[in-house]
Amino acid sequence: MLRSGLIAASRSSACRAVVEGTPVMRPVVDRFIAGPGVDDAIRVVRDLAGDRLISLDHLGEEILDHTRAEHTVEAYRMLLRRLHDECLADTAEVSVKLSALGQALPVDGDKIALENTRRICEAATAAGTTVTVDMEDHTTTDSTLEIVRSLLADFPGTGVVLQSYLKRTEADCADFSALGSRIRLCKGAYDEPASVAYQDKSQVDVSYVRCLKILMRGKGYPMVATHDARLIAIAARLAEEAGRTPKDYEFQMLFGVRPRLQELLADQGLRLRVYLPYGTEWYPYFMRRLGERPANVAFFLRALLGR
Ligand code: FDA
Repeated sequence: MLRSGLIAASRSSACRAVVEGTPVMRPVVDRFIAGPGVDDAIRVVRDLAGDRLISLDHLGEEILDHTRAEHTVEAYRMLLRRLHDECLADTAEVSVKLSALGQALPVDGDKIALENTRRICEAATAAGTTVTVDMEDHTTTDSTLEIVRSLLADFPGTGVVLQSYLKRTEADCADFSALGSRIRLCKGAYDEPASVAYQDKSQVDVSYVRCLKILMRGKGYPMVATHDARLIAIAARLAEEAGRTPKDYEFQMLFGVRPRLQELLADQGLRLRVYLPYGTEWYPYFMRRLGERPANVAFFLRALLGR
C-alpha cells in the first residue's frame, strides 16, 4: 500500500512541488544521488573507483518534447567525454531510460528513442565504455526490448534490464542469454497489475531465482542487481555451480542503499557495480527509493516536517 502510494506520488506534479520546495529535503535526497551536476557525478565516481565499478544515470524520465530528449542525449555525450578524458571509462558505464530519450513521444516515439540511444552508444564506444538500457513500467517492455535488440546488432556490449516481478521475464532471460547479452536482473520498481506481474513478494523472489538459474547457465553476462542478501548468496552459489569465476558476472546495487553490504561484497573480491544517479530531475527516482523501505519514509517525513 505504502509502496503503491509513493509510486503514485512519484507521478504527481502537486506532490512534486511540495517535496522539491522543501529545502531541508536535500540531505535525504543526497543519500541516494551524487548531486545536481556532472562534476558531482565525477567526484563520486572517483571516490568509489578502486574496488567498485559504476553505472551513471543522468536523471530524467517521461520526457514529452523533442528538445528535452535532445538535452538528455547531449548530457550523456558530455558525461562520456568526461569519463574518457579523466581515464574513468574502464570504471564507469552509463544507464539510460528510454522515456528520457523520446520513447513516450506520441508520434514515432520508438524510432526517436532508438536513434537517440544509438547516438549515446556511439559516444560510449568512442569513450571506451558501454550503455545499459533501464527498464520502466510494463507498457514499455516490448518496445524497450525491441530497441535493445536493434542496438545489439551494432553495439554488442549494450546491457538490458529484466524485472523478476513480470511473469514474462523467464522467457526474456532465455532469449537475451541466448544472444550472449549483458543482462541486469532486478526485482522491478513500478506498480504493476496482477495480469502481468507477481504481486506477492515471495513469488517475485522465487521468480528471481528461476531467472538467475537461466542467466548463470546461459551464454550472457549476468548482472545481479539486488540488495537482498539471501538472493546474493544464491546467485554466488549458482554462479559457482555453473563454473563461473567472480569475473564472469557482477553484483549491482544502488548508491546509498545498504552501504555496509556493498563494502562486504567488495572486500570479498566480488565484482560490484554501483548505480549512481545525478542531475536535477531527482524526484521520481527518489520517491521510488522511499517506497522500497518503510524506514526511508520515516526519515523523509521527519525532513518534510522539519523535525
Ligand atoms: P528488496 O526490496 O526485497 O530489498 C532487499 C533489502 O534491501 C531489504 O532489506 C531492504 O530494506 C533493502 N533495500 C532495498 N531498497 C532499499 C532502499 N531504497 N533503501 C534502503 N534499503 C533498501 N528497477 C526497475 O524497475 N528498472 C530498472 O531499470 C532498475 N534498475 C536497477 C539497477 C540497479 C543496479 C539496482 C540495484 C536496482 C534497480 N532497480 C530497477 C530497482 C529494483 O527493481 C528494486 O526496486 C530495488 O533494487 C529493491 O529491490 P531489492 O532487490 O533490493 O529487494
